[in-house]
Amino acid sequence: TVLVVDFGAQYAQLIARRVREARVYSEIVPSTMPVAEMLAKNPAAIILSGGPSSVYAEGAPSLDRALFDAGVPVFGMCYGFQLMATALGGTVDDNGAREYGRTPLTVSKADSTLFEGTPAEQPVWMSHGDACSAAPEGFTVTASTDVVPVAAFENDEKKLYGVQYHPEVMHSTHGQQVLEHFLYRGAGLKPDWTTGNVIEEQVAAIRAQVGDKRAICGLSGGVDSAVAAALVQKAIGSQLTCVYVDHGLMRKGETEQVEKDFVAATGANLKVVDASERFLKALAGVSDPETKRKIIGREFIRVFEQAQLEILQEDGPEVAFLVQGTLYPDVVESGGGTGTANIKSHHNVGGLPDDIEFELVEPLRQLFKDEVRAVGAELGLPDEIVQRQPFPGPGLGIRIVGEVTKDRLDLLREADAIAREELTAAGLDRDIWQCPVVLLAGVRSVGVQGDGRTYGHPIVLRPVSSEDAMTADWTRMPYETLAKISTRITNEVADVNRVVLDVTSKPPGTIEWE
Ligand code: XMP
Repeated sequence: TVLVVDFGAQYAQLIARRVREARVYSEIVPSTMPVAEMLAKNPAAIILSGGPSSVYAEGAPSLDRALFDAGVPVFGMCYGFQLMATALGGTVDDNGAREYGRTPLTVSKADSTLFEGTPAEQPVWMSHGDACSAAPEGFTVTASTDVVPVAAFENDEKKLYGVQYHPEVMHSTHGQQVLEHFLYRGAGLKPDWTTGNVIEEQVAAIRAQVGDKRAICGLSGGVDSAVAAALVQKAIGSQLTCVYVDHGLMRKGETEQVEKDFVAATGANLKVVDASERFLKALAGVSDPETKRKIIGREFIRVFEQAQLEILQEDGPEVAFLVQGTLYPDVVESGGGTGTANIKSHHNVGGLPDDIEFELVEPLRQLFKDEVRAVGAELGLPDEIVQRQPFPGPGLGIRIVGEVTKDRLDLLREADAIAREELTAAGLDRDIWQCPVVLLAGVRSVGVQGDGRTYGHPIVLRPVSSEDAMTADWTRMPYETLAKISTRITNEVADVNRVVLDVTSKPPGTIEWE
């Protein structure tokens, strides 16, 4: 394992991903973790991330220099580089030598461990206030910039390396190569971590955890729960039961994907609960978005708990485990930790016995989203599931502005299916984060079709580009594709006579309309 010590900037996750892209397993630890605890993890190498602070700022995170004496290869980046420099006796000046953004780096030792085979001048991404003016004793300076005399230093004997810039970001064009040089040449690691290893390891771990008891898993139709379920299914087979609640608010073909494709690919026991009538009834007459969300959430829990209860009452070993598709970013953001939490299932509404407690099985806790997709593909799940774009839990219920009715759902499902088909045909699936298709049920406008006047509803297309859905921009997609979607929707979907494009970023608009 390579430990990435997080000094509080947003870069640690990116570094961890880059290390894994180099096929070396990595984990993030907080900089507040005592060095002895880090070393107890027996790391093959340690990377010190960038951070927001100056090493001279009050309360700036520090590092016990014992870390550098442990014989473990260390690579410091940006703030981590400066910490390394000061801890080992180099000089970092608080002299306002700032650099932000793309900066040309001059490599002064072409055959160094970090830079061999990379250009003598290369663009790197800088973001710092202080600058290192003298490397610690025993270190060779291997790169500089116009502003910073020591932009990289290396000590092959002690296997300690550092760079002032951010090799993990895309703008540092040779950053990945430099990182790989540290991992392979500096630390002597081999690129042998693959999704195949992940599956093997997890299958063994799940078998050990679950034993001969039973587990249940809620499938939402999304990537994470599907891959988690497939992994657990591979480990414990028929001891797993999956529950899929069809709330009738899914898009065209999605329920079938779970019912047929997921089962075909995994052989899992699947309990499908068709609750669409129940949801429609509960949503009748409601058009306020928050109320709709609350109703959908409440009904979902009730139906899911009822299904759980039925499984608990079946003959067979104790049902002691609940499978969840928690990903590594969630784990890191909620404070890390490797323990498995016990959760008490909501028992206030569905009539579950008071003392029911499930232990969680979370086989994706170590993985980033793209790795989850790779594991899913390797497990044989179809692309339609593995490459699925995000879709909100309340489904089409929050893409009908106005009351949700069966007719409106059917209409929106048709329009959405056309938009998805054309986006896929145009090869835009990977460029677009997601494209909500929204029905403005309370709005009508005048149109003309054939020889007659129409008075129909508008459909809104909301294609967005994003990295994490926290912010988003509307996607500048080709007019031809927009034209095709518009023509097809107005021709093929009865009662729709207008298609409009949402050109609002987030903020101020959210991605969904409700
Ligand atoms: P907004 O609309 O807030 O959405 O910009 C951000 C991302 O979250 C999705 N979303 C949801 N996902 N349950 C979910 O599981 C929800 O209630 C929900 N609301 C929004 C949305 O599709 C987008 O990806």
